[in-house]
Amino acid sequence: MTVKPENREILILGIESSCDETAAAVVANGRVIRSNVIASQADLHSRYGGVVPEIASRQHVGAVLPVIDQALSEAGVSLAEIDAIAVTAGPGLAGALLVGLSAAKGLAEVTGKPLIAVHHIAGHIAANYLANVELDPPFLCLVVSGGHSHLVMVKEDGSFQTLGRTRDDAAGEAFDKIARALGLGYPGGPLLEKASAGGHSDAFSFPQTRFQDSLDFSFSGLKTAALNQLNQLRQQAGSDGVNFAENFNLADFTASFQQAIADTLVEHTRAAARETGVRRVAIAGGVAANKALRNAMGAMAAEEGLELTIPPLILCTDNAAMIAAAGHRDFLAGRFADRSLNARSSLDLEETFA
Ligand code: KG4
Ligand code: ZN
Repeated sequence: MTVKPENREILILGIESSCDETAAAVVANGRVIRSNVIASQADLHSRYGGVVPEIASRQHVGAVLPVIDQALSEAGVSLAEIDAIAVTAGPGLAGALLVGLSAAKGLAEVTGKPLIAVHHIAGHIAANYLANVELDPPFLCLVVSGGHSHLVMVKEDGSFQTLGRTRDDAAGEAFDKIARALGLGYPGGPLLEKASAGGHSDAFSFPQTRFQDSLDFSFSGLKTAALNQLNQLRQQAGSDGVNFAENFNLADFTASFQQAIADTLVEHTRAAARETGVRRVAIAGGVAANKALRNAMGAMAAEEGLELTIPPLILCTDNAAMIAAAGHRDFLAGRFADRSLNARSSLDLEETFA
């Protein structure tokens, strides 16, 4: 496989379908977004209170080719001008992953372009290369999504070392579960954030878990405490639901819950930065869209004198520009997948798809 000379622009087509967003994007040189098309199914799944895998797969099938066409046309490039096709091969919903993967393999086959398998979390981390063109490893990245809460060291050579991970729920899951208990709907994180507007983040107190000698997270204690407080308040209000609704301050409750998660995430990140001596910090994943977390992380970075990169909201939640950006690094290293590539519903960040 020949790699283009350095002075030529490298264009990567990224494809993402691991959950409920069908996305395609074109990224130049791993840093500049030429197009970033996202077809979200969130409205469709919201009536079920969560992602229904079978529905997700079927939606991806209908959306994937139009979304790819749109990404190419918005970028003003033809498939022939693309240098490689990068696709999320895992982790995620197997049936959903397979749709993007099959499309990518088909396109690679007919065009003869190289195929690149991208780990979904490596994609989230790479959103930071798009947000900050100056950013290069080594840096520490807090990855917080619906399925992951990881503290990852991105080493000098771009490889990953997980310093801490959740032992139970992911941060996004905790948001989604409490949002559901509050009847806010799906997806819970953004709706809970909206409900917290104007609330006092110190009105309720929730426990924050820190393990000794470990940077691992745990959100189950926080989640259970929130559910218990909610049940107690409901019981105190008696059978009268109206009474509960009148006396319960939703903004205060959600602001406090959100702050407890943000503070936990930030304090773990501070500890990891101190332990490793790293000077650059980044955040990634859907929960990184949360303003309380973004603000708390900004304050911590200023206190510690760290250089912080935070992707814009559109690059925090699932998208394909981040997949193309991650794929660019594999392209330069000549790490290509062969046509036997299969989807992996679960896969550690340090593992490879081979
Ligand atoms: O990265 P992502 O889009 O998909 C996964 O790879 O999981 O993350 C989705 C998660 C969901 O749990 C969602 O509730 C959460 O990110 N999320 C948020 C916000 N926006 C999305 N959580 C808190 N505040 C937000 N603004
Ligand atoms: Zn994601």
